[in-house]
Amino acid sequence: MIDRPPVAPGSFLAGSLPDLRGGFLPLSERLFRDHGDVVRMRLGPPRLGREITLIFTPEGARHVLAANQANYRKDNVNYGEVRYAIGDGLLTSQDETWQRQKRFLQPLFTHRRVAGYAATFGAETDRMVAEWQGAAGEIVDVHEAMTRLTLRIVCRVLFGNDVDVALPVIQRWFDPLSDAVRRRAFMPVRIPHSWPVPVNRLIHRGQAVMFGLCDDIIAARRASGQVSEDMLGLLLDARDDGKSLSDAEIRAQVLVFLLAGHETTATALTSAIYRLGAHPEVQERLRAEVAGLPGTPTAEQALGLSYTMRVLKETLRLYPSAPNMGRRAVADDEIGGYRITAGSDVLVSPWMVHRHPAHWPEPLRFDPERFTPEEEKARDRYAWFPFGGGPHTCIGMHFSLLEGAVALAGLARRFAFESPAEQPRYESQVTLRPADGMPVRITHREAVTR
Ligand code: HEM
Repeated sequence: MIDRPPVAPGSFLAGSLPDLRGGFLPLSERLFRDHGDVVRMRLGPPRLGREITLIFTPEGARHVLAANQANYRKDNVNYGEVRYAIGDGLLTSQDETWQRQKRFLQPLFTHRRVAGYAATFGAETDRMVAEWQGAAGEIVDVHEAMTRLTLRIVCRVLFGNDVDVALPVIQRWFDPLSDAVRRRAFMPVRIPHSWPVPVNRLIHRGQAVMFGLCDDIIAARRASGQVSEDMLGLLLDARDDGKSLSDAEIRAQVLVFLLAGHETTATALTSAIYRLGAHPEVQERLRAEVAGLPGTPTAEQALGLSYTMRVLKETLRLYPSAPNMGRRAVADDEIGGYRITAGSDVLVSPWMVHRHPAHWPEPLRFDPERFTPEEEKARDRYAWFPFGGGPHTCIGMHFSLLEGAVALAGLARRFAFESPAEQPRYESQVTLRPADGMPVRITHREAVTR
């Protein structure tokens, strides 16, 4: 009989919960250092709490996400909470429901379609350029700015001309709703959704507002009979075997795109700008690539920016926006020589795999050259997997890389970045984000050369 993975020592009553106070990512790093590639931890009291198995290798990630993915389902607490709050869209759905949704949604994310969204990526980037126009060495919280930028982008892509109605409501309600979902996901002991505690009230209120907004816009679109080219229009118009998506299904997809599609790209852009500001030689090389552009790049121009793309990929290595991916094991299995028991909560960790010294020499060094085509080809496919893998690979991968390249190039053409000497802290509450904002000194390039 093979052994179960080593278990992190913790307190008898709370397990590793007290260690979580220092953050999930530092705890993962310690567990990897002390116990190796596969490790278990308990959160909360024995039997009542949760036990999680953390997987830190490319082989383990491939096994869970692709090779044996049928055994690893999105039946865990986190995905359950998302499903409850916003409906069962493509991020949480499984089996036939997921297959059906995927058939409807894939055409919205083809390279041709995404290239069509790039004008919006560019227009919103130009808006940010105008906002920073007079910058002459001011410290800006780049995380706040990038979150605003990517939220405006995804809202405009989704809602088109209805963006002015949708954006203020989403800006007011979406973050509190997703924070409440995260809070419930991290509770050591499950409580029913029906209990009138503050976190549940917030979820129900946020849900009512967001559902109401989407339902009103969908109803108005259906009533007008007009076909529009924004994503919502495409969703309303989508057909599979002559059938269309129901209004509730459309609403769930819209909310999933909002949830999965703005904070992730915002954190990637924030971290890329921070890294440019910390590595003048990388910033200079990227600037040399974008300096000759006539303006913020179009889709075609952005796709040709190979160094900018390498910077983004290396950023996503060190700061993967989804630092962990969770599943629940259906049947007993084996990973890395250890027994995974049926019902286990499993987390594969891009955060640690992307820093695994067996796959990344000097893992903490920021070096875009790791992403030359030759280097990429020589590496294990699952040594770098910020967009996941297997059938549930991120549908927005090309969208967000193109959005990132357009925005980063558009901003770096115009501005010089200088980052503070101290390393920023990151926290992982499902998605990655800087714990204390991201202050970066920004100077308009004309001010530099004056
Ligand atoms: C830097 C940006 C992004 C990162 C790092 C990222 C990461 C991920 C990851 C890791 C997964 C797999 C989750 C799992 O297997 O449990 C995923 C799935 C997904 N992402 Fe993204 N994402 C990004 C941007 C986007 C955008 C822009 C959208 C949509 C507009 C999007 C929509 C989705 C959806 C719908 C899924 C579920 C796919 C499926 O199960 O078929 N993501 N993403």
